[in-house]
Amino acid sequence: MRIGTPLSPSATRVMLLGSGELGKEVIIALQRLGVEVIAVDRYPNAPGHQVAHRFHSINMADPAALRALVEAEKPHLIVPEIEAIATDELAAIEAAGLAEVIPTARTTQLTMNREGIRRLAAEELGVPTSRYHFASSLAEMQAAADDVGYPCFVKPVMSSSGKGQSMLKSAADVADAWEYALSAGRVNHGRVIVEECIHFDYEITLLTVRAVGANGAIETHFCAPIGHRQVKGDYVESWQSQPMTDSALAKAQDIASKVTGNLGGRGLFGVELFVKGDDVWFSEVSPRPHDTGMVTMATQFQNEFELHARAILGLPVNTSLHSTGASAVIYGGMDAEGIAFEGVEHALQVPESDIRLFGKPESFERRRMGVALTRGKDIDEARARAVEAAQRVKPVVD
Ligand SMILES: Nc1ncnc2c1ncn2[C@@H]1O[C@H](COP(=O)(O)OP(=O)(O)OP(=O)(O)O)[C@@H](O)[C@H]1O
Ligand SMILES: [Mg+2]
Repeated sequence: MRIGTPLSPSATRVMLLGSGELGKEVIIALQRLGVEVIAVDRYPNAPGHQVAHRFHSINMADPAALRALVEAEKPHLIVPEIEAIATDELAAIEAAGLAEVIPTARTTQLTMNREGIRRLAAEELGVPTSRYHFASSLAEMQAAADDVGYPCFVKPVMSSSGKGQSMLKSAADVADAWEYALSAGRVNHGRVIVEECIHFDYEITLLTVRAVGANGAIETHFCAPIGHRQVKGDYVESWQSQPMTDSALAKAQDIASKVTGNLGGRGLFGVELFVKGDDVWFSEVSPRPHDTGMVTMATQFQNEFELHARAILGLPVNTSLHSTGASAVIYGGMDAEGIAFEGVEHALQVPESDIRLFGKPESFERRRMGVALTRGKDIDEARARAVEAAQRVKPVVD
């Protein structure tokens, strides 16, 4: 293990595929370790572009464009931050020995498609999940929904952040849900998963890190569970630690270690789980830092971005918590370019608070533009502070 000097022939080069707010923090963590970072996104001036050594705007779903950029930049590591990437080309790049894909190219292929990861978890690894069927037509979807029962969830197999997703209350909702899924799915138009609704007490993200230990073997580490609240498939608030029974926590860690152990490689994973009493269901996994994990910037000695940076470089990690904390999302609240934020000085009057503004060039009504981070003596206090701090930040446009 060695780290070179950036911008010299000895440089350790890392290419981020996707440079949003999560990628930006990974880049900052890598920069602090003296890594040369190349930030890639589909549009110019993305958050991560603004803190990298070099940046590019390309369509990462275009295999030829991706290959050409990797050949030109010659990164040692490729770190995907989004799912909409030409993952078959990543596999070819990995197989040709051009670069190492984090955590592995196979993992990016499996997790970009709900069908790949769900079948692996439920059918190969025997991990508990909601009951589900895949469907490729309205008629198949109807039959699937009738079988899993109502309410149920319909999600395009290729989508994230709640896009194209609906909750069906009855058979009367099936046709609309099918149209909506078709309109918002990324590719693979017309294939959906129909999932039984789990009536959970709470849901968590279990950040799980695969990192090289002292004896040179990969070890699995867990962060304290992160609770969160989702609205329309998008996270609005998160907190750490979510209280859990010993039994539920043990089951959650067992599921996370089975799934990430099969996926392999080095890095941090966001394992999404539903919990009811002592029962735990696997929902999905992201092989990268997780949006709900931004709270770790307030709560952990090494936040999820620093953990990812260390793990991918082959360095040891420390997942321990120093404080109870919370995060709350700051939305754009309007569709406009080059907006400003007022009230940051009031937000920072909230005790034990901090703010991140991501620097996104364009705001949308429901686009995440920043986040409030807080600590507190307990979750209630930390959450109330985070929500208050986020509300005090006012997006404005002249
Ligand atoms: N089967 C289910 N039972 C109960 N709630 C569910 C189910 N599936 C999804 N949800 C709710 O919807 C949220 C979003 O679902 P999911 O994580 O599958 O979508 P996503 O589009 O991948 O979202 P993201 O990319 O933000 O993680 C979940 O966090 C949960 O709150
Ligand atoms: Mg999710």
